[in-house]
Amino acid sequence: MKKIDRLVCVEDFAQEAKQVLAKNAKDYFTSGADDEITVVQNTEAFSRLLIRPRVLRDVSVRNLSTMILGKSVKVPLGVSPSAFQGLAHSDGECGSAKAVEAIGGIFILSVFATKSYEEIAAAAPNVRRWFQFYMHKDRQVKEKAAQKAGFEAIVLTLDAQSVGNRRSSRRDPLEFPSHLKSLPNATPDAAQKELKIFELHDIMDHGVTWEAVSWLKSISNLPLVVKGIQTVEDAIIAVSHGVDAIFVSNHGGRQVDTAVPTCDILPEIVRTVKGKCEIYVDGGVRRGTDIFKALALGANMVFVGRPIVYGLAVGGTVGATKVMHILRDELDLTMALSGVSNVSELTPSYVNRVPGHSHL
Ligand code: FNR
Ligand code: LAC
Repeated sequence: MKKIDRLVCVEDFAQEAKQVLAKNAKDYFTSGADDEITVVQNTEAFSRLLIRPRVLRDVSVRNLSTMILGKSVKVPLGVSPSAFQGLAHSDGECGSAKAVEAIGGIFILSVFATKSYEEIAAAAPNVRRWFQFYMHKDRQVKEKAAQKAGFEAIVLTLDAQSVGNRRSSRRDPLEFPSHLKSLPNATPDAAQKELKIFELHDIMDHGVTWEAVSWLKSISNLPLVVKGIQTVEDAIIAVSHGVDAIFVSNHGGRQVDTAVPTCDILPEIVRTVKGKCEIYVDGGVRRGTDIFKALALGANMVFVGRPIVYGLAVGGTVGATKVMHILRDELDLTMALSGVSNVSELTPSYVNRVPGHSHL
């Protein structure tokens, strides 16, 4: 048996990735802000939520497909934008895109990717793909190039106008090998900047406000997803700005430590938004049961960040693809064992809280 065949869950890939990654890259990918309390809590919040399986229902045929931004996906599972995937494996973001193509989900490319829009389109021509960026001071967006390469929506990340306090990267700043010293999709300011994570935040507009969302909508006809919403208050403002989707995220616990776990804030945001736009979530999703729970709480789509990087680190495209298959298959089995034949049937009635923890 090959080593990769013995890796049967995301946690197996995480452990193996930590063995094979160089310390510097491992620290960058795994770390969170300060004491990494939110990193831990994001996953623990899913464990606190319990499933209520139903029995004696015909689950012989399962349908995981759904509509996202007006088009179908085979499974409501995607990959969040994460930077510098070329540090995990030379396949980089092309490997992640192919992995998502294999399951028919959605792939989001970071503005700090090591592969260009065109390389992604060539590697995974059939993947549904969106492109992410932050509001940079120069406000130049390579939107036309992305659209030409088949990227169909904008993801504006709102929770990282400064880089969070990752202690390991402060002790040992992230180092880039010479072949990775460019950011093909970044705006001129970012592309010219020396590639150091704590210098990249100099190019961000720290004074940015909701006006930027209105501006983006005025210059682009692409659907707009705002990523990093963590409160009901901001969800209401986002809806009033006509966004197409709210992406509930705390950046995988890399920004504000002790920020509320995303799975804990999701229900109240879903209740408040009342279907006025789609809602996605990421942060701590490591198992099919986590995806099941997030969908039951009302997310239209669930994303993973670090798991795809772990897959890449262990086995490039093959490893990343296996990670996505594991998550998809775990979701499918959880549905079968819980009496759910179609993801559209998932409602909060399928989940419960452990006594002593906050209720739904
Ligand atoms: C990120 N994240 C992120 N988000 C974003 O909008 N643009 C980016 O470039 C990055 N870069 C990045 C790098 C690394 C190494 C990580 C781990 C994360 C946040 C990412 O999109 C996502 O919100 C979290 O990773 C989700 O949490 P999990 O799944 O990693 O627990
Ligand atoms: C990070 C930035 C790139 O989380 O978003 O490292």
